[in-house]
Amino acid sequence: MNSPIRIAPSILSCDFARIGDELRRAEAAGADWHHIDVMDGHFVPNLTFGPPVLQAVARAASIPLDVHLMIERPLEWIARYAQARPEVLTFHIEAVDSLPAAREVVNAIHAAGVPKAGVSVRPNTPIAAVEPLLADLDLVLVMSVEPGFGGQSFRPETLSKARRLRELGWTGIVEVDGGVNAHTLQACVAAGCDALVSGSALYSEHDMTAAVARFRALAAEVSARGSHVA
Ligand code: DX5
Ligand code: ZN
Repeated sequence: MNSPIRIAPSILSCDFARIGDELRRAEAAGADWHHIDVMDGHFVPNLTFGPPVLQAVARAASIPLDVHLMIERPLEWIARYAQARPEVLTFHIEAVDSLPAAREVVNAIHAAGVPKAGVSVRPNTPIAAVEPLLADLDLVLVMSVEPGFGGQSFRPETLSKARRLRELGWTGIVEVDGGVNAHTLQACVAAGCDALVSGSALYSEHDMTAAVARFRALAAEVSARGSHVA
């Protein structure tokens, strides 16, 4: 895999009272994307924020936004979240009831002018659920914890899905989200992941610049080995 590793701190773990400062802290640390977790209190048992806050974040940000929708009925919301001009808009395959419905959401994301359409799978959802969509997707988000909360433990068995995507020869972005830290990220990169979301492990660091640099160095070690190690 020659693609660069993207590091996406999740603002779910930031100090929301100082969100603009926190965005700048991640940018100064060398983050590639801001990962933005949108939760509706229905698809997941937690609630974060909606389009107005996302637009305020977009105005304050100077790196691209990677928006992870953990919401029911995503099709109804795509146009409004697209107004914040994210680089990536990802919805959950479990939030739609059929493959045609999933295709409709992917098409809506592209039609709204979002550069990258993504689909996410919960830990217990097989990757086969998204395989028919791969030709139309730019990113697959493999959840390595149950979505809803930061600070959970990484589930290594979920990486078989990243490996499967690479075995299929898929060249899109494979993103991993949940429990990614300096101890778990090498397994992610070895499995073929090239976008790493990390909330608590980055935002809890006093020196986020050092933490991002450490992530990059650890990822580079794996890339230098030049193969996907199981
Ligand atoms: C969880 C979110 C994650 C979360 C990750 O539902 O999708 O993006 O912020 O947090 P950590 O890295 O702390 O597991
Ligand atoms: Zn997320």
